[in-house]
Amino acid sequence: MANVFVRGANGVFEWVNERAPGLMPAYRKHMTEYYAPKNFNIWYIFGVLSLVVLVNQILTGIFLTMHYKPSAADAFASVEYIMRDVEWGWLIRYMHSTGASLFFIVVYIHMFRGLMYGSYQKPRELVWILGMLIYLVLMAEAFLGYVLPWGQMSFWGAKVIISLFGAIPVIGNGLTEWIMGDYLPSDATLNRFFALHVIALPLVLLLLVVLHLGALHEVGSNNPDGVEIKKGPKGNRWSSTAPADGIPFHPYYTAKDGFYVCFFLIIAAFIIFFAPAFGGWFLEHDNFTEANRLVTPEHIKPVWYYTPYYAMLRVVPDKLGGVLVMFGAIAILFAVPWLDRSKVRSHRYRGPLTKIMLAMLVVCFVWLGKIGAGPGTDPVETNIGRVLTFLYFAFFITMPVWTKLDRTKAVPERVTMHD
Ligand code: HEM
Repeated sequence: MANVFVRGANGVFEWVNERAPGLMPAYRKHMTEYYAPKNFNIWYIFGVLSLVVLVNQILTGIFLTMHYKPSAADAFASVEYIMRDVEWGWLIRYMHSTGASLFFIVVYIHMFRGLMYGSYQKPRELVWILGMLIYLVLMAEAFLGYVLPWGQMSFWGAKVIISLFGAIPVIGNGLTEWIMGDYLPSDATLNRFFALHVIALPLVLLLLVVLHLGALHEVGSNNPDGVEIKKGPKGNRWSSTAPADGIPFHPYYTAKDGFYVCFFLIIAAFIIFFAPAFGGWFLEHDNFTEANRLVTPEHIKPVWYYTPYYAMLRVVPDKLGGVLVMFGAIAILFAVPWLDRSKVRSHRYRGPLTKIMLAMLVVCFVWLGKIGAGPGTDPVETNIGRVLTFLYFAFFITMPVWTKLDRTKAVPERVTMHD
């Protein structure tokens, strides 16, 4: 029986191979003959976890779309219907809403890994740039999605964020009206946001992810030592021309990643089943009330993954200034490959300055996130927010200086296996 099955599978495989001979070489190039450094540590699983969450968002999104109604009159009730009446609808919706927050958690860790190991340095600048474009599209995608349930925070969040475009001189007001298709978020806004959220941006996101991985596989992965394995000795158990410190991505890393993916899914399941709103951080309390243009919520604030930038927007007294600072905080990340002047990639072989600066960046980002999630009425907190915003920018603007000043240690010739 098993034999018949194997022969059948081989037959199908040969049939496909004859007609599309390019598929197997592509599979080999990206899987079995993609030689990844053998010293990857836990920080290296977050790219794959981002992929897992992306697939989750697309699959659960398709099922949500089958029952969701993109109109201002029906949207909120259709989400309630999904939660209460559609079989397993509550699970699909919580997988999608929790997935959004998990997406940002894994992507933020993934980006920080890049900063720690200097993964953006030559020749991986393009991988970083494509990653940053993914990050931008992801933020837009999450914003559009948040408007769809048409709760109070969907409505007022959309109003506040779209109105930011009003700060642009001359065209600002016209642009705001053009984006909304009305003077306030309305049925027209919801319809276009739905179209962009379910088809346009996911397509762009998928394309960017393919390009991101394509660009990475051209140059090969960096690793926690920042050693370029392609420049090291050649020849391993699988190939005489492959880097000696590389191992085939499949089956070695697929097996290792598979283990961590299971672990990640268990944590995700706990959140989905026991704390889907996550104390108001993943699903805000105000969004359980239908949108009402006559009642403003007490505190309008975005979901946690935007709050560091939202804090920056709020601590600047001038509206246009705030908008520029907020977008500048994201834009400056694009320049990182050219701001870093260190000869060494990984923080392992850099001095204390790099570690202090990286720690400072994390403290600033998290603290700003906390400030952005609060009511923004405490003047002391506003001043702290200003200092943190200043330090956040200082990290990047002075990066050419501190990366050059910092001590470096000798980088080993070959990768090390110490954790
Ligand atoms: C949907 C979002 C994303 C997905 C699915 C994704 C996927 C991946 C995967 C699978 C890898 C290889 C495995 C690994 O090194 O972890 C990778 C590497 C990388 N990613 Fe992403 N990524 C995403 C977003 C980003 C973002 C936002 C950035 C930064 C701006 C970024 C920067 C990088 C860099 C620099 C590498 C090379 C790391 C190295 O070789 O050390 N990625 N990405």
